[in-house]
Amino acid sequence: MSIKARKIDHIKICLDKDVQFNKKNGFERYELKHNALADFDFNDIDISGNFLGFEFQVPLIISSITGGCNEAEKINKNLAKVAQRLSIAMSCGSQKAMIKDEKLSHSYLVRDVAPDIFYIGNIGLDYLNNIDNFDRIRIALTKIKAKAIFIHLNLAQELVQGEGERNFANSRENLEHFIKFIDMPVLVKEVGFGISGEIALELEKCNVVAIDIAGAGGTSWTKVEKYRQKDHRLAKRFAQWGIPSAESLVQCRSAVKLPIIASGGIYDGITACKAIALGADLIGMAGPLLKEANKSSQALEEYLENFILELKTAMMLVGVKNLKELKNNEKIIKLYPFV
Ligand SMILES: Cc1cc2nc3c(=O)[nH]c(=O)nc-3n(C[C@H](O)[C@H](O)[C@H](O)COP(=O)(O)O)c2cc1C
Repeated sequence: MSIKARKIDHIKICLDKDVQFNKKNGFERYELKHNALADFDFNDIDISGNFLGFEFQVPLIISSITGGCNEAEKINKNLAKVAQRLSIAMSCGSQKAMIKDEKLSHSYLVRDVAPDIFYIGNIGLDYLNNIDNFDRIRIALTKIKAKAIFIHLNLAQELVQGEGERNFANSRENLEHFIKFIDMPVLVKEVGFGISGEIALELEKCNVVAIDIAGAGGTSWTKVEKYRQKDHRLAKRFAQWGIPSAESLVQCRSAVKLPIIASGGIYDGITACKAIALGADLIGMAGPLLKEANKSSQALEEYLENFILELKTAMMLVGVKNLKELKNNEKIIKLYPFV
């Protein structure tokens, strides 16, 4: 199957089928401490900040979603328009499709509608296994005018795909070489199976500038693949695989000093508030944004305005006015016994 056909499949399956994990992302185990006596004005709540030198108005990044087919063009444009309006960061889907077929490049181009956003390219770790690919990636990043690149780790997805990559030999070394080669910030992300504290430490040693933990509890990529495979037994068996997002975040936060993006089923402002209180710098989101962007940029903007309202409401209710007060604030979040 061509990459283009696979990209169309992924979009359709994520739009039409139930691809959410059955298990939860772990944030339900945490409670925020209600502060009954606030002493500031809701209108003074400030959720702006800085991530890798980029000034954002909302602590949110549109996670890597798509590119590489005609359907992706409209989705990326709608995502980018809203990213520009709200001053938030955005990533595209894997650029392998445009590297393999230059004619697909148009589906990743967003600078006409989003000249100022922190736009992040994307490629899989397995693609770094050949040094000749380094230049191809650099050209692809220049074409889309990216400011940084995400390297995605999607081992579980590859292994349950009939046509998936199996050879991950020397991947850490390849990542180190690539980071030395490319003259832009390199971030690493999972795709929904989570990053452990130990792996975060390995990544920090490789000089990545930030990680997106993309834990389990949101979109399940083994579940997505279950719908695509003729023999779906392996994908079905691993449909619930992965470190829940909250657990992955807590492990990574205590292991490394790197900026951390928390994602994996973080779809509302209360959960986002919990994630930042547990040490996240930004929240990432993919699944729900795909659905809204597929409708229209207005639908997407409404969804995100509601997310922002929820986040600010939660912040007021825990008595913090800005992200500095919220981040890593152990006083306002409590882990309840698992029942
Ligand atoms: C349709 C779709 C395509 C995706 N493609 C990519 C990709 O090409 N590269 C990548 O790093 N992640 C990709 N992801 C994974 C997301 O970036 C994200 O890590 C994952 O969906 C978990 O977040 P969520 O629960 O907010 O959806 C994709 C997600 C969706 C919904």
